Amino acid sequence: MDYAGLFSSNMPLLVEMPVGLQADTKYVFSVTYADKGVFPAEGLIDALSKAIRREGETLSQYPPPQGHLGMRELIASTLAGQRGAPTDPESIFLSGGAGGAIGAVLDVFIDPGDAVFVEEFSYLGTMRMLLEHGADVRHVPTDVNGMDTEALDEMIEHVIAEGRKPKLIYTISVFQNPLGVTLSHERRRHMVEISQKHGVPIFENESYADFRIDGDPLPPAMLGMDDSDCVMYVSAYTKLIGCGLRLGYGVVPPPVMDSLKTIRFGGIPSHLAAMGVYQYLADNREEYVTDVASSLRAKRDAMLGALGTHFPSNTTWSKPDGGMMIWVKLPEGADTMAALPAAVEADVKYNPGPVFRAERDRANYLRLTYSHNSPDEIRDGIEILAGVFQREGLFGWG
Ligand SMILES: Cc1ncc(COP(=O)(O)O)c(C=O)c1O
Repeated sequence: MDYAGLFSSNMPLLVEMPVGLQADTKYVFSVTYADKGVFPAEGLIDALSKAIRREGETLSQYPPPQGHLGMRELIASTLAGQRGAPTDPESIFLSGGAGGAIGAVLDVFIDPGDAVFVEEFSYLGTMRMLLEHGADVRHVPTDVNGMDTEALDEMIEHVIAEGRKPKLIYTISVFQNPLGVTLSHERRRHMVEISQKHGVPIFENESYADFRIDGDPLPPAMLGMDDSDCVMYVSAYTKLIGCGLRLGYGVVPPPVMDSLKTIRFGGIPSHLAAMGVYQYLADNREEYVTDVASSLRAKRDAMLGALGTHFPSNTTWSKPDGGMMIWVKLPEGADTMAALPAAVEADVKYNPGPVFRAERDRANYLRLTYSHNSPDEIRDGIEILAGVFQREGLFGWG
């Protein structure tokens, strides 16, 4: 069979990614895997048997289109209690990870050429989806308080002045990926005002809200600050319990829910996974979130300590209060894309800065994640990575 002439001419645009990211390495500083050191095997076994005994028979049928009701009720009460965002379970849909909800929302919003505003660097999966849709991605300057909303306002006005329709403000508002910063309370209020003023919805990604390690309490989600359906929200249990569970969710206002229904939410996750996660969290959420944070604290501190020991003084890095990643700046001219194969050869993976940019520039930055390896492995891996960067000339020669 010659398949070449049979493929759809309507495929997503090709977005190239560094091949090294697919390699198998011992030190994985390139993926925000759930922390396997605290994986709750026994708790999940108990939760699943309880759930199967109670409602396993429902698995003989297809699940409700928006997913398991108990899980959606639990999400609604967590959003009200933890994120200051009272939410109706009817406005929630379960998805295949946060990525599934993001993909479904982008499918119903984005036409080629649509302007979408994102942080100065943004999560590579969403970037990739936006680029595959042909979106016009505009990076907004971002600092320790998150996206600069004054700049955002000006950039939206600029797009409107060009006679084009700005479509979405996409923000990872808590422990931002990759920068680790959290959008301040004041800027949240301003962003909601900007969204209302220009009629451009906010798509708020709080995938890392469960991972506060220390520092100030988190400001509330914008979802709860807005009373005019301007904010859509996405998060997941993948980073908390297991990426393989593929359980995430979106929260959207009624007109968007109606639109999503027509594309069947991009497919809903396994009902069994939803039943098990629902039961596990109903019984253990608070204690488990605390255990994850304390494990992540040891890993974060191991990575920060190792960077201090092995990276030279002409490099800088973030010191996040939560989340799973550290953002590193190397001297001007360092090429983290070009050095990735040498790192992979030495058994270490990281994310070069350009994968978080539509323009694929800023190669002297990189993101290091600390959720997967143990603190000892992290110390060894950072020492190895420093050796690679030294040999490849990324630290400069001076
Ligand atoms: C900000 C952000 N959103 C979404 C995702 C996708 O996560 P999931 O595995 O829940 O689809 C990730 C994964 O790294 C992420 O960092």
